[in-house]
Amino acid sequence: MNKTANQTANCVILFLGLVGNSVFIQPGLAQTQCDPSKVVTVESCAKCHKNEVKVWKSTPHFRSFEELSRRPKAKEICNNLGLRSAKRSDICIDCHYTTQEIGGRAKPISGVSCESCHGSAKDWLTIHNDYGGPTASKENETDDHRRHRFALSVENGMKNTRNLYLIARSCYGCHTAPNEELVNVGGHNAGSMDFELVAWSQGQVRHNFLRTGGLENGVSEIERLRVMYVVGLIADLEFSTRATAQATSKSEFGVNVANRSARAAVKLFELQQKINDPNIQHALQAFAGAELKINNTVQLDQIADEIQAAGQRFAESADGSKLGRIDSQLPNPNEYK
Ligand code: HEC
Ligand code: HEC
Ligand code: HEC
Ligand code: HEC
Repeated sequence: MNKTANQTANCVILFLGLVGNSVFIQPGLAQTQCDPSKVVTVESCAKCHKNEVKVWKSTPHFRSFEELSRRPKAKEICNNLGLRSAKRSDICIDCHYTTQEIGGRAKPISGVSCESCHGSAKDWLTIHNDYGGPTASKENETDDHRRHRFALSVENGMKNTRNLYLIARSCYGCHTAPNEELVNVGGHNAGSMDFELVAWSQGQVRHNFLRTGGLENGVSEIERLRVMYVVGLIADLEFSTRATAQATSKSEFGVNVANRSARAAVKLFELQQKINDPNIQHALQAFAGAELKINNTVQLDQIADEIQAAGQRFAESADGSKLGRIDSQLPNPNEYK
């Protein structure tokens, strides 16, 4: 084994071997995915994105709103945590629903929605599609304006899909289930252990209509899938490191998230042997210093911040046409979720 992978493995062993003094502190309450005061709801998108809305309504993200609280497993988790019901509990709402502020209170209004992934839209809605005033069109928009529009939408909270790292962060923020109490006490699964960005975004949740002029829902082109694959691994490393930062006891949650981050690091290391990218190098170097042990919040959060910065830079600068060497690692279309 090479040096980084070895170090990684050692970290895991260190973690698993720790006899934790389980200090039960207030668990890291899950962060709200959307700002409820800035949510405009799916209805506001439907005017221009009908096809995307139609696809969304066929996904588990949409159905969770009606289905979740009826599931025996959801009742069991709520019981374990002393909660009344999923729909009334902030902790579940955070990942299973989108909320909107109505009369000063955040109310669940739908399942995981457009804005859960693309960012609450109040401040970016009229910016993201403004080609430069009412008479401008996509065809005559200048490159400068396009760049400006993209940057301004991001500044105003949009997880614009041109930087894939932004959107990957949405997925992993929920799919790593970074909540110790939810897993250890509630009995919730420790996130989607096999989550991989290409496979999970190109199947049932895929809604790529714009690039085909609204006619077809196409799988993204290979150059984009390559970048997406790498971005997914970096985001996995960031969020599993963040989750490990929350671990206060040596139990199911901590062991799972520490293993997950070690696994992501090994995969990323193997990938780096093929593509030798300075940003990936940066992420791996940051992670090599990580001690995957309990109650190590400050160090692990700092490392996660560095991985995040590296991931964002990678997504900005990556040229998918030069990443052909990783094609054998990409999931097959029959593995798309
Ligand atoms: C008034 C019409 C309109 C509304 C309303 C609208 N969009 Fe758009 N949207 C567009 C157009 C036009 C584009 C293509 C912009 C371009 O050419 O870069 C777009 C592009 C996008 C993109 C792709 C951005 C990229 O560069 O990859 C996303 C994501 C998106 N919209 C999400 C949303 C969401 C979420 C909502 C609701 C909160 C919404 N839009 C509401 C017209 C609209
Ligand atoms: C940090 C995000 C997050 C939070 C908080 C969260 N969930 Fe989940 N939950 C998920 C994700 C992601 C999945 C899908 C996981 C998968 O791939 O199976 C899921 C799946 C589920 C499932 C179906 C899986 C199964 O084991 O049957 C149930 C039931 C569930 N959650 C209940 C709850 C309840 C009840 C709460 C509140 C006490 C809650 N969740 C809070 C992210 C979350
Ligand atoms: C706000 C939290 C949240 C975000 C953001 C999110 N998801 Fe999910 N996702 C969930 C939950 C919760 C479920 C399970 C829903 C259920 O079963 O009730 C789920 C289920 C799924 C499923 C279905 C899995 C299966 O077993 O059938 C796919 C695929 C998926 N998500 C992909 C993605 C991708 C790709 C992204 C990012 C582009 C993403 N999700 C972002 C919370 C989220
Ligand atoms: C689970 C997270 C998730 C949800 C929910 C979601 N999106 Fe997306 N969206 C993505 C991802 C990821 C991409 C980029 C996919 C790709 O490039 O293959 C994307 C791409 C887009 C695009 C650009 C596609 C293209 O053809 O260029 C638009 C427009 C868009 N989304 C609008 C919406 C709207 C409107 C909704 C709600 C009805 C929505 N999205 C819900 C994750 C999500």
